Amino acid sequence: MAKLLSIVLIIFIQNQATTSKKPHILFIVADDLGWNDIGFRNLDILTPTIDKLASQGVIFNSSYVLPVCSPSRSAFLSGYYPFKTGFQHFVLGAYQNVCLPLDLTLLPQQMKKAGYATHAVGKWHLGFCNWNCTPTYRGFDSYLGYYNAATDHYTHKLVNYYDMHDNEKPAWKYYGQYAGYFFTDRSLEIIRSHDTDIPLFLYLPFQNVHEPIQVPEEYADLYPHVGNYGRKHFSGMVSFLDESIKNITYALRDKNMLNDTLILFTADNGAELLYYGNNYPLRGGKHTLWEGGTRATAFMTGYGLQHTGIHYDGLIHAVDWMPTLIGAAGAEQGRLIFHVQSIPGIDGINQWDSIRMNQPSKRTEFIYNLDDFFIPSQGQAAIRDGDWKLILGYPGLYDGWYKPMNDTKDTPLYDFIYTPGDKPARLFNIKDDPNEYNDVSKEQPEIVQKLTAKISEYRKSMVPALYPKSDPEANTVARRNGGVWTPGWC
Ligand SMILES: *[C@@H]1O[C@H](CO)[C@@H](O)[C@H](O)[C@H]1NC(C)=O
Ligand SMILES: *[C@@H]1O[C@H](CO)[C@@H](O)[C@H](O)[C@H]1NC(C)=O
Ligand SMILES: *[C@@H]1O[C@H](CO)[C@@H](O)[C@H](O)[C@H]1NC(C)=O
Ligand SMILES: *[C@@H]1O[C@H](CO)[C@@H](O)[C@H](O)[C@H]1NC(C)=O
Repeated sequence: MAKLLSIVLIIFIQNQATTSKKPHILFIVADDLGWNDIGFRNLDILTPTIDKLASQGVIFNSSYVLPVCSPSRSAFLSGYYPFKTGFQHFVLGAYQNVCLPLDLTLLPQQMKKAGYATHAVGKWHLGFCNWNCTPTYRGFDSYLGYYNAATDHYTHKLVNYYDMHDNEKPAWKYYGQYAGYFFTDRSLEIIRSHDTDIPLFLYLPFQNVHEPIQVPEEYADLYPHVGNYGRKHFSGMVSFLDESIKNITYALRDKNMLNDTLILFTADNGAELLYYGNNYPLRGGKHTLWEGGTRATAFMTGYGLQHTGIHYDGLIHAVDWMPTLIGAAGAEQGRLIFHVQSIPGIDGINQWDSIRMNQPSKRTEFIYNLDDFFIPSQGQAAIRDGDWKLILGYPGLYDGWYKPMNDTKDTPLYDFIYTPGDKPARLFNIKDDPNEYNDVSKEQPEIVQKLTAKISEYRKSMVPALYPKSDPEANTVARRNGGVWTPGWC
């Protein structure tokens, strides 16, 4: 019997070994894409490829991110809450001489350890004042993209300087070309020249659909019925992104890699309402701790998922993606190294089994953000515990429920809600009231108390925000390098 068992075991192990290929992983980040800016939720938006991929995969219904770009990206790549790494406050400015702390081991570094080829194409926005801060020094074999944010999609200039970098070199040849095209082309080159025996990790943080609202006119023309100029072009930017993903998945298919590829797609924060994004029916938008700022459009599709064509309701937070993708990478082979619930120390939880088997989430609680600074746009503190959500202090810039703009005139949105006497606490039951209409803090004082205590506990591990004043040395270095944003000033 024992002998039989061991033979069975050996066969089992051999089977495992023969099927133990690590998946290729494509991690796509859409910039400022709202809850209501995607075809599978809003029929006015044309994203046929994304809709198809999502419908063949798992659409996340409760996947959360930080309210703005740099904090979310820091969480995606480090697995830590931004308030523990100093990245909780707003977004990194071009002149700030800091970057995501260098003692963190980032996702691409982990992927390299697991034997992956690692490439990044798109927007970095995690600091670049020192070469050690930049993508090719932080685990990526190659990089093409912007160090900064909100860079012009054609001139690639931010303020006075050029910001398109091919590995460590300024990439002047792209001046005047729409970045989405050559980001796609670079992705195709990476795929076409890839040795398929090696697993590929491709991180694609597109700058679509972030302002400046720019797109080749043919994509805006897909929306003849949208009366608002900004919304029409924004929608075109979304459709452009969809076409990029189409071309990239076709390249994977042509290379026989698609069936072995796991794709994660997520927005980095909710839509920026001033720039024509939309989160309806969720409340608020980018910058805010409301669901409209933090509940992400996200899905996973492809390799390893056992239940597809579903919505996954379990709680997921931005910090979970790093251990989850490492989990997916090690699911077959690297059991010993990677099959862990979570990497010790990080805030992220490996949700790979929960997602792929459609089992309950391993997460019941998370911090939306914690930030002591006050600026009149960004929310300060919020926590989720099961269905309950507590917001403490200022929730952030946009307070309402906004439909997509469709009038020729833009909807006026400058209704800042902060007054010095802003309510200290707001409580919502997100399951019953996902759009945050009913503040029940008065009715549920004990829950307010319990969640306030939890926030205080988390606050003990908060570090000061890395948010220094502008450093003029950035100019000196940029000028010395032919008017290109260049590391070397911290
Ligand atoms: C915008 O308004 C026009 C005219 O009222 C309407 O036909 C169209 O369906 C609307 N489009 C969207 C995207 O709401
Ligand atoms: C996708 O590929 C087609 C065919 O090569 C090309 O015409 C189109 O410009 C590509 N789109 C993007 C976004 O790269
Ligand atoms: C990929 O999977 C699909 C669906 O299971 C199958 O029809 C197709 O033949 C597979 N392609 C390759 C190249 O293995
Ligand atoms: C998504 O979550 C909301 C709020 O929790 C719920 O009302 C809705 O039914 C869920 N949708 C799907 C498709 O699971």
